[in-house]
Amino acid sequence: MFLVLNGPNLNRLGLREPGVYGAQTLEDLERQCEAWGAELGVAVTCRQSNFEGQLLEWIHEAQEQGFTGIVINPGALTHYSYALRDAISGQPLPVVEVHISNVDAREEFRHKSVTAAVCRGKISGLGFTGYRLAMDYLAEVLSPETG
Ligand code: DQA
Repeated sequence: MFLVLNGPNLNRLGLREPGVYGAQTLEDLERQCEAWGAELGVAVTCRQSNFEGQLLEWIHEAQEQGFTGIVINPGALTHYSYALRDAISGQPLPVVEVHISNVDAREEFRHKSVTAAVCRGKISGLGFTGYRLAMDYLAEVLSPETG
């Protein structure tokens, strides 16, 4: 069971800078993640919050709630939230960081991620497809054959 977390301002997808983030909404993204999960045979729960503390609590509780992997787009928290970094590193589940836009091709402050180093890896610039690739990875590493 995978947990897909979206952080601040991602509820504004479709309205917010469509030239950067596309015209599709958060609801479109969440439905696609559920459908990709179904293809993988994995239940997917999607949550979004504009509040850092809420994201931390969802991460703290994820394992005991039965999740086996986490996909997270931390939004701008990526670039400065040591609290989010500590929440990720303080729990055992594999986490993949995703960004819809290519953060390395944008403003300098977006080039730094304080969270990526405590994630399995980071996918950036591939739009919503990044979430699918992150789930493909989690399904592969969590499968009994690949351990
Ligand atoms: C983002 C990139 C961040 O720099 C930005 O603050 C976001 C969205 C992305 O998905 O491309 O909110 O994480």
